[in-house]
Amino acid sequence: MAGEFQAIYDRSISDPNGFWGEVAEDVVWTKRWDRVLNHDTPPFTRWFDGGELNTCYNALDRHVDEGNGERTALIYDSPVTGVVDRFTYRELRDRVATFAGALAKRGVGKGDRVIIYMPMVPEAVIAMLATVRLGAIHSVVFGGFAAHELAVRIDDATPKVIVSASCGIEGQRVIAYKPLLDGAIEQAKHKPDACILLPRPVLGEREPEMARVEGRDVLWADATCGVEPAECVPVGAMDPAYILYTSGTTGRPKGVVRPTGSHIVALRWSIKNVYGIKPGDVFWTASDVGWVVGHSYIVYAPLIGGATTVLYEGKPVGTPDAGAFWRVISQHKVKAMFTAPTALRAIKKEDSQAKLLAQYDISAFEAQYLAGERCDPDTLKWAQETLKVPVIDNWWQTETGWPIAANCRGIELLPFKPGSPTHPCPGWQVDILTAEGHPVTKPGEIGAIAIKLPMAPGALSTLWGSDERFVESYMSEFPGYYQTGDAGIRDEDGYIHVMARTDDVINVAGHRLSTGGMEEVLSGHPDVAECAVVGVADDLKGQVPLGFLLLKDGVNKTHAQVIAEVVQRVRDQIGPVAAFKQATVVNRLPKTRSGKILRATMQKIADGEPFNMPATIDDPAILDEIREALRPMGYAKAE
Ligand code: COA
Ligand code: AMP
Repeated sequence: MAGEFQAIYDRSISDPNGFWGEVAEDVVWTKRWDRVLNHDTPPFTRWFDGGELNTCYNALDRHVDEGNGERTALIYDSPVTGVVDRFTYRELRDRVATFAGALAKRGVGKGDRVIIYMPMVPEAVIAMLATVRLGAIHSVVFGGFAAHELAVRIDDATPKVIVSASCGIEGQRVIAYKPLLDGAIEQAKHKPDACILLPRPVLGEREPEMARVEGRDVLWADATCGVEPAECVPVGAMDPAYILYTSGTTGRPKGVVRPTGSHIVALRWSIKNVYGIKPGDVFWTASDVGWVVGHSYIVYAPLIGGATTVLYEGKPVGTPDAGAFWRVISQHKVKAMFTAPTALRAIKKEDSQAKLLAQYDISAFEAQYLAGERCDPDTLKWAQETLKVPVIDNWWQTETGWPIAANCRGIELLPFKPGSPTHPCPGWQVDILTAEGHPVTKPGEIGAIAIKLPMAPGALSTLWGSDERFVESYMSEFPGYYQTGDAGIRDEDGYIHVMARTDDVINVAGHRLSTGGMEEVLSGHPDVAECAVVGVADDLKGQVPLGFLLLKDGVNKTHAQVIAEVVQRVRDQIGPVAAFKQATVVNRLPKTRSGKILRATMQKIADGEPFNMPATIDDPAILDEIREALRPMGYAKAE
């Protein structure tokens, strides 16, 4: 590889100060940085140290000030309510400034936290931007999480204000949010000063009642009525823009902290160079603002890049049919879209020939981006043949904030290899490490995928409230590296192939979940003595969780009863997003002689994959029992 991309990549690594310093010239700062890269206290990295700026200014006000206020900033497309709405940059800026005024009136200022628990409505984006306008820190919690998960985040982030809505709409179903919010606040030790609540009158009688707590709850319209719009408050480049909780290793979520300055710089670079989007182009990410993909590519990157972003409150299928994505692309002249492979699998399942596509003119469409989970070659091929545009896999994580590896269409398209997100992006030094922490010697050798420090701008700076946990979670196993938690290879062309997680994280419909977290919920059930949860292959969702339960002696309920109860328990405590629907009762769990449960072997048995008998297994006969328990469920078909 010796083209333009390679030259850019090489420079980003050999001269990070020059490379990112030039990119940062394109961002509006109220105070210029003293140093581009400060890596004096590893493993911590300080990008643009000494600089000051405001995220909302860079996302909205600057475009108005530069004469582009009448350009469309956001298109809200909601097939579940029948609404399509548009906001120019000026309109969005004004709405955000007013809501920031409402937050300020409730005491929110620089460094304070605001939790946002909202469906995919413009007010969710407005609340995010209003928070950062004040120099405050938002933490968006995905609507598919239950009250308990929300409570854990409330206690960790200790927000002054929570912004929520009466309900979300999941396909045809209305999901009341307010009872979940009330339940979470009741469970949490920390109590917010105020909750600002958005009613959804468009639903008419379908809208659930919103009981209001006197002195705490205020409706959105009342909160914003007559308030003074708030100005942008500059913050330090290393001050957090937001906290986003993600799963990993235990049930306790990690609060990923995004530093303000390098976040803006990295997203402005990536929207142009990775996604090929210029000011005025329409970009659509079909995800949710509760995930990092939504933060970066529904909200911040397109707006920072002066493009038009689409906020879609619908599903790939059922709202109303498997042609919904093509309708949105056609109606809004979308130039590039981004979603998870699972969404395309859902469409393919219902309309394998993509007959519905014939109804729409998608001639403005230039590229399809996929991330969030491994892109299986079948889905990739189907998308390429159906859409007849480049289909670009990109690999990254909540922690990194933007792609670690992708085919950077905005620079030049490199040859495609199915199953690979291509080459590391500028700024990311990726190594494949052996268990001892040495880079593998041969291309194609599998190992832990790790990133050499310093990480690129935009990556997390720490975990909220705990530098120690940050170091322990990511930097301790391989000193000098950030451990991604993924395993894979680098091939002879320098392409990365991401194969599997090395921890307990599973990926369900593009949603990252911890099996450890589910095990904590199962073991809390009074009849469960021991348990294990593994992620098994699923045609639609990529993976789904499957539980193994060992019951206490003397339980006088049927197995079906206990299984139904634990399924409900996970739904109540983690949320429907866990998609935990299957479990089986076994007499014993396979373990090593030192007592470690052999989860990876159980997963391979369930998926009918070959496996090597673990040398340290205590009793191999237990594997046959596991196989017998799985067969009636349709798993463990062949090995
Ligand atoms: N609020 C409340 N509940 C939610 C929710 C939200 N924001 N999002 C999902 N849920 C619920 C779903 O309704 C479902 O509930 P159920 O068990 O009662 O049916 C459950 O959580 C599981 O959701 P999901 O795994 O998304 O399954 P699904 O069958 O509803 O939809 C897909 C499957 C493939 C259509 C959907 O997952 C999808 O579009 N995914 C791709 C895009 C994406 O969001 N990727 C994320 C990161 S890029
Ligand atoms: P999240 O933090 O929710 O974005 O999930 C990140 C994890 O999803 C990664 O660590 C991978 O395990 C997986 N992932 C995301 N994108 C890809 C991809 N393009 N290919 C393979 N795995 C991916």
